[in-house]
Amino acid sequence: MVDDPARRGQRVYDRWATYGPAYRLVDRLSRSMREAAVRALAPDAADTVVDLGCGPGGSFPLLAEAVGPEGEVIGVDYSAEMVRAAAERAAAYPSVSVLRADASELGLRADSVDGVFASLALSAMPDVEAVFDEIERVVRPGGRVAVIDGRVPDGAFGNAVMKAYRRVVNFQHADVLADLQRRFESVTVVERFDAGLGFVARVDVD
Ligand SMILES: C[S@@+](CC[C@H](N)C(=O)[O-])C[C@H]1O[C@@H](n2cnc3c(N)ncnc32)[C@H](O)[C@@H]1O
Repeated sequence: MVDDPARRGQRVYDRWATYGPAYRLVDRLSRSMREAAVRALAPDAADTVVDLGCGPGGSFPLLAEAVGPEGEVIGVDYSAEMVRAAAERAAAYPSVSVLRADASELGLRADSVDGVFASLALSAMPDVEAVFDEIERVVRPGGRVAVIDGRVPDGAFGNAVMKAYRRVVNFQHADVLADLQRRFESVTVVERFDAGLGFVARVDVD
């Protein structure tokens, strides 16, 4: 039987949600990337920002601080267990709410969002083109998207890494930056890490 990647992804991340200490370690190790991505997003006070594929909410503190008390952060994830963990984290931040939804169907109004933040998430999204459609629909003209992600190296080693990542973290895309550049006109890489395989990028939405 062929396993649907979205259903498989929810199962994989339901399980990851129970590994709290592992995620706290990821939060700690990735803090400077998250800070760089929030700087790239540069939300104004009172902006509405979606944290797409928010996982257990590791970016909530930085995003809540960036939009201030008048702003709004909406964490979105399709894994029920991630949403539960994220809601626990969000309880400390009045401006943060959490929504269980597929990133390709957010149920938010068109042009209602100032920014989208996607940390280590687009590469795990089975239908990234549908997610790009949804980003274009909900982000107002002049809004921004900040992405932290990476690609696997070329060649046999990269293929082996891809296979392992697919099993462990439901990794779907070999090169998210190339996907973004194919789809959006204005993509700026603001930082590289992990020998150039990882990146923080900003997309300006027109
Ligand atoms: C590697 S985790 C990253 C979590 C968090 N953004 C971080 O930086 O720690 C990827 C997250 O994306 C979520 N995800 C993957 N595909 C999704 C989709 N189509 N819709 C909503 N969430 C999705 C997964 O459930 C998971 O929580």
